[in-house]
Amino acid sequence: MVLCTSVLAAAGGAQLPQHPENLQVLRKTLSTDSVFNLMLDVADGLGVTCGYCHVGGDRPTWDSTHFASDAIPMKVTARAMFRLTDRLNTELLPAMPNRGSTAVTVTCMTCHRGAPRPVTLADTLERILDRQGLDSVIAAYGRFRERYAGRMTYDLSEASLNEIAARLVGATRFRDAARILEVNARQFPNSANVAYQLGLAYEKAGERLLAITEYHRVLSIEPGHAAADRHLRALQPEDPVRDRTVTRNVLTGRMY
Ligand code: HEC
Ligand code: HEC
Repeated sequence: MVLCTSVLAAAGGAQLPQHPENLQVLRKTLSTDSVFNLMLDVADGLGVTCGYCHVGGDRPTWDSTHFASDAIPMKVTARAMFRLTDRLNTELLPAMPNRGSTAVTVTCMTCHRGAPRPVTLADTLERILDRQGLDSVIAAYGRFRERYAGRMTYDLSEASLNEIAARLVGATRFRDAARILEVNARQFPNSANVAYQLGLAYEKAGERLLAITEYHRVLSIEPGHAAADRHLRALQPEDPVRDRTVTRNVLTGRMY
């Protein structure tokens, strides 16, 4: 979108037939058409529909939509965001020392990337973890993967669940970390890093055999993985027959 100096300061076509009635931040002389176009980018930037901020904005036609009304608090919030974005573009960024030769214009999309609240997937999942527990996190992750596939809103690489798992390890919740990493390992079966993190989580949770299996898996993905090799040696299999059975189960996917 073009919520920058050009739109806020550009002279609007005063002779256009239809005019917005309640512009407090955008230039009052903007035509309804220009505001509509700008709003399409706003909605897109936040991944919402017009009804997120406008009364009746989700109806099939806009006949009964009250765009000028401020009844929905989110519209008032958005106004503050319009000001913030404008100040970044007109004041703060131009004052930045050594600014790049191609100035970057900040838009709603720059921060929001298609989500109403600009937060990372790891932060979102952590909130779900705190409020609803591990099963909800795993269910939510599946939904996020479907809904945001191919979009830039969330980092759907292995990194997000690794981050959650690292936070759980930091809180000595090793079994929970392992469950999260099992989900990640299903999603990224060829990642030596995920397998290694899972091995560490199993080891810390006291799941020696599962850890051994996981370190073996690391080495099958990345034969030169020195850390996995070191852990494997340190774990010294005590019951080779049982260890092999567990290893086979895990490698054939029967453990998770
Ligand atoms: C995130 C909130 C948000 C979303 C989503 C949004 N708008 Fe807006 N809209 C605003 C704000 C804030 C204003 C008032 C701007 C101002 O005060 O300068 C506004 C003003 C308008 C106005 C001018 C109303 C008037 O008479 O003053 C129109 C028309 C409008 N929006 C259309 C739309 C349409 C169409 C969509 C969907 C494509 C949409 N908006 C989505 C926040 C939003
Ligand atoms: C520089 C980054 C940045 C830009 C640019 C930005 N936002 Fe935001 N926005 C945020 C942050 C951060 C929050 C969360 C604030 C909080 O509640 O802590 C937020 C929150 C919001 C919310 C409240 C969402 C909710 O569910 O609580 C709305 C609405 C919103 N922004 C609209 C906009 C619109 C519209 C634009 C473009 C005109 C915009 N933002 C541009 C960073 C940004």
